[in-house]
Formats: sequence, structure tokens, C-alpha cells
Amino acid sequence: MLTSKKIVVCVTGGIAVYKAVALVSKLTQAGANVKVIMTKSAMEFVQPLSFQAMSRNDVFFDTFDEKDSSVIAHINLADWADLVLVAPATANVIGKLAHGIADDMVTTTLLATTAKVWIAPAMNVHMYENAAVKRNIAQLDKDGYSFIEPSEGFLACGYVGKGRLEEPEKIVQLVEDYFSPKELPLKGQKVVVTAGPTRERIDPVRFLTNFSSGKMGYAMASAAASLGAETILISGPVSIEAPSNVKLVSVESAQEMYEAVLEQFDTANIVIKTAAVADYRPKDVHAQKMKKQPGDASIALERTTDILADLGSKKTHQLLIGFAAETNDVVHYAKGKLAKKNADYIIANDVTEAGSGFGTDTNAVTLVGKNNVEKHFPHLSKKELAIQLLQTIIKLETDDKK
Ligand code: PMT
Repeated sequence: MLTSKKIVVCVTGGIAVYKAVALVSKLTQAGANVKVIMTKSAMEFVQPLSFQAMSRNDVFFDTFDEKDSSVIAHINLADWADLVLVAPATANVIGKLAHGIADDMVTTTLLATTAKVWIAPAMNVHMYENAAVKRNIAQLDKDGYSFIEPSEGFLACGYVGKGRLEEPEKIVQLVEDYFSPKELPLKGQKVVVTAGPTRERIDPVRFLTNFSSGKMGYAMASAAASLGAETILISGPVSIEAPSNVKLVSVESAQEMYEAVLEQFDTANIVIKTAAVADYRPKDVHAQKMKKQPGDASIALERTTDILADLGSKKTHQLLIGFAAETNDVVHYAKGKLAKKNADYIIANDVTEAGSGFGTDTNAVTLVGKNNVEKHFPHLSKKELAIQLLQTIIKLETDDKK
């Protein structure tokens, strides 16, 4: 989601500096190019090396240590940034910024930047409520700075109250929302996404399943929601958290997924079938745990409903998008599924390729569709890929209707 976004993180001296390390790591993992500036007090808590390792960039802390003689570092950083985060922000840096004081690398950069600046305060609850701090925050608010309010809880000083640096995951989510496309081409549309594996029970303690983690499907749901759709995410059992802007329907088996999808189908505009649905389930589900017997054993299997094919035979106005996990002749088989299941698009996924398919954070796919569409998407994070796939399909559909 943050690919090619340039973010400067200003780290000032409080115990929450350790959380800023996680923040920089998560922003980098989300694709952002992150550069860190530290105050002297911040370096009392954590060494610059930690931030260097997490951001894979030089860390700046001395206004007079010009690493590149062709530029002035704080002006260069200030101009480079798409967004500046001050996290954690102490009462001291808030006070300096409110009064236009620029006496170190952090504050000179903050005064020089024209990028959006977000300030995430972290301090003792009484300091946060102090009249001078409140005045400074109000001034900065008036000057156009944005704040990420601290959360409530146990503080390092022993008090309980408001003053904890917001959790890194939440800050990353805010940053992703800030950079997410502001055009909402799916506004007013209902998108149903299936994700994850299904579980087909053998007995009370055993089941058949596959390696789907749900990451690709959850990314598709998140992308649909960020493009404005009312999004229903029908998910098999996974261990990742659902995006906050979608409605999650949890299911276990292929049959439960089928019923949940059918319930939404009439009112859906787009159905995206990312789930790795079991093709077979045990014919008999044992009520008691199956006991070991001497010799081999076998389990009789029966076919599950092919949900995508069933929807393909029923569709009226819905756009149907399937995925195809393949190990060879990927595009050829995907085209076969497109026709056989009467889908509009199939996203062909070579699950044998490194960094692709089940469980990975990245994926590379080929979109095949009606009108001989065939477009390859090289390795991208699943989140970025999901946005690009939906934007491409939306454009193809718009052009098709012209
Ligand atoms: O979850 P991740 O770890 O991120 O992994 C992502 C993924 C590899 C699971 C995903 O990218 C993917 O390829 N999903 C489709 C997996 C699959 O089951 O492919 P298939 O070729 O068997 O099925 C083709 C299509 O028919 C799929 O849209 C599938 O949802 C659908 N299907 C299949 C069987 C069935 N009984 N009902 C179905 O609707």
C-alpha cells in the first residue's frame, strides 16, 4: 500500500522510542521508504543502528554532520518527504515546534518541510494535561499540524491514563488510509470476497484443509473497501485480523462458504473468489474420534459444490472474479476455468514460484478475462497487488461499457 511513499520519522526522547522501532519496521514492510531522524535524548533510549537496520537507510541526528556535501541534509530530508511523522513526540518537541524553535536536526527539518506533519505525543498523563502543553498543541493544531492522539493505559512512569504512544499497527493503518486513493470508483457497490482455506471434517479432531493463509483474499477485501465498496469478507479459518472497514462472515467448510455466498449473491455487484475451497470432503463425518486399526485405512471422499461455477450459472448482473492456483501451464488452465465456470475474470496464480501463492506476503499473477484480456502483474506485496488488480478490472469494465 505504501510502495514508493517517502516517510521521515522524527524520533524524540521518551521511553516509547522502542515502539518507534516497530513502527519504522512496519512502515518499511508496507513498502514505504523510511528515513529516521533522532534527537540526542532519543539516542539515550535506543541506538541509531536499530533504526538503520529497520529502515535500511542512514539515520540522521546531527545537523552539522552532512553525509552528502552536495546537499544540506535537513533541507534535503524536508523536501524529500511525502509525510513526516513525529513519534514519539515529547512535550519538549511540541513546545519547540509551537514556538518556531529550530535547534537540532529534528526541529530544523520540521520547520523546513512543506509535507504533511503528523505528531504522535507520548508522555506522562499530567504532562499531557499541563496547560502549557495543551496551549502548544492547540497552537500547532491551528498551524495545520495533525495529531495522533495518545491512547490510555499503563504508563512507564507508573501512572494509568492518557499518554501512551498509539500502537504502531494503528499508526501504519492511518498512514495507509492517508495515502489510499481518494477516488472511490466502487462507491455504492457491494463486493463479496471469499478468502482463506476451508476445513472439511473427518471426525471431531481431524479435518482436510490446505495452506491458504487468507492474506490474498483479505488484501482484496481491504482494497475493495478502500475503493469505496460495501465489502463482505467471507472467510475460512485463518489467523490474521480482518480489515476494520469490511464486514467479516466466518465459515468453516465449503458448504458453509457456499451458503454464506448465496445469501449475499442477489444484492452483490462483484464477487471475488480468492478462497482455496476444498474440492472434496469426507463422505461420512465420524461422530467419534476414529480409532487406529491394524493396517492401512482409506477415507471415501465426495465432491463439494463448485461455488464459482454455481454462481457462473446463476449470475444476472454480477461481475464474477475467480482465482486459479496452478502449478504448470498456469495461463492455459486459467483460461479453461474462465470458460468452464462462466467467470468474467480469472487471476492465475503460479503457486510454485518463489514469493507467490500460499502464505507469502507477495504475489505475482496473470489476469485473464473476457475480450482476450491477458495482463501479467510481477511480484508485489499482496496489498499493492490487490489495489492494482481492482483498478485494472474497473478500467477494463469502464472501457467495455463505452
Ligand atoms: O490465502 P493465501 O495464503 O494468501 O494464498 C492465496 C491463494 C494462493 C489461495 C490465492 O491466490 C488463490 O490462488 N486462490 C484460489 C485457490 C483455488 O482454490 O484455486 P482453484 O484453481 O482450485 O479454484 C478456481 C476458482 O474456483 C477459485 O476462485 C476458487 O475459489 C473457486 N472454487 C474452487 C473449488 C470450489 N469447490 N469452489 C470454488 O468456488
